Amino acid sequence: MPGLTVATGLMQHPFDAQNGVRTSGLVAGRHLGSGHRHDRHATAYYGVAPSVFEGLLARWYRTSPVAPIEETTFVDVGAGMGRALLLAAELPFRRVVGVELNPRLVRIARRNATAWRRQGRACTPIRIFGADAAEFRFPAQPCVVFLFNPFGAVVMRRFLTNLRRRFATRQDGPDILYLNNEQDGVIEASRGWQRVFAGRVRRSQADAVADKKILLGQPEAEYAAAGYEDCSIWRWTPSRR
Ligand SMILES: C[S@@+](CC[C@H](N)C(=O)[O-])C[C@H]1O[C@@H](n2cnc3c(N)ncnc32)[C@H](O)[C@@H]1O
Repeated sequence: MPGLTVATGLMQHPFDAQNGVRTSGLVAGRHLGSGHRHDRHATAYYGVAPSVFEGLLARWYRTSPVAPIEETTFVDVGAGMGRALLLAAELPFRRVVGVELNPRLVRIARRNATAWRRQGRACTPIRIFGADAAEFRFPAQPCVVFLFNPFGAVVMRRFLTNLRRRFATRQDGPDILYLNNEQDGVIEASRGWQRVFAGRVRRSQADAVADKKILLGQPEAEYAAAGYEDCSIWRWTPSRR
């Protein structure tokens, strides 16, 4: 898959060297084919900057989530190789679940989860499903759903319809943590969601240096790095339907 070999621009992120896992690589959406009709809406594979993930989680805690973290399932929609899942598994969530459309990335993410457990880093169970976000059966329990800009507007609308079907009558969530929130307007136009945070979450100096170096090395210079990510947090509020 172009973007996953040194010959096609792969540069290792320090997260992998420091933690003995494989989450590096930048794969353009057009190379993420799985045979699914939603392939053409995929943005790209790229692992989240750990400092931005932690910054967004810290913002989320400050919004007074509807359930305690110990009762909440973390779901990464478009889990890729699982970098966000690994970080989430170090927190006391009830469970950590990944949903990923590309089968090759699913296999790599599962190997990373095994490595994390062996290292004693996972304090919560991790499960990774090879599935489309718009068809995935979300657990009917308090959830925080993480998206690092996985897909465009068409799939975002279908994903929200799927989520609404599951949670229509429930009062306890989910929350959406949306990082690089290009389709925020789609959520805004969809009934039942209240935005509880919008703003920039900064990269640490180390992540900024790493991401800049990786993105400068891209063969086709398609993606840009900034010192921050635009993020939002949305809460399912049935009374606003
Ligand atoms: C930017 S990467 C995010 C990786 C990971 N969440 C992280 O933060 O490290 C987006 C991922 O979404 C996946 N994706 C795109 N469309 C999808 C869909 N319809 N269902 C599930 N996953 C999808 C892509 O294959 C890609 O791995």
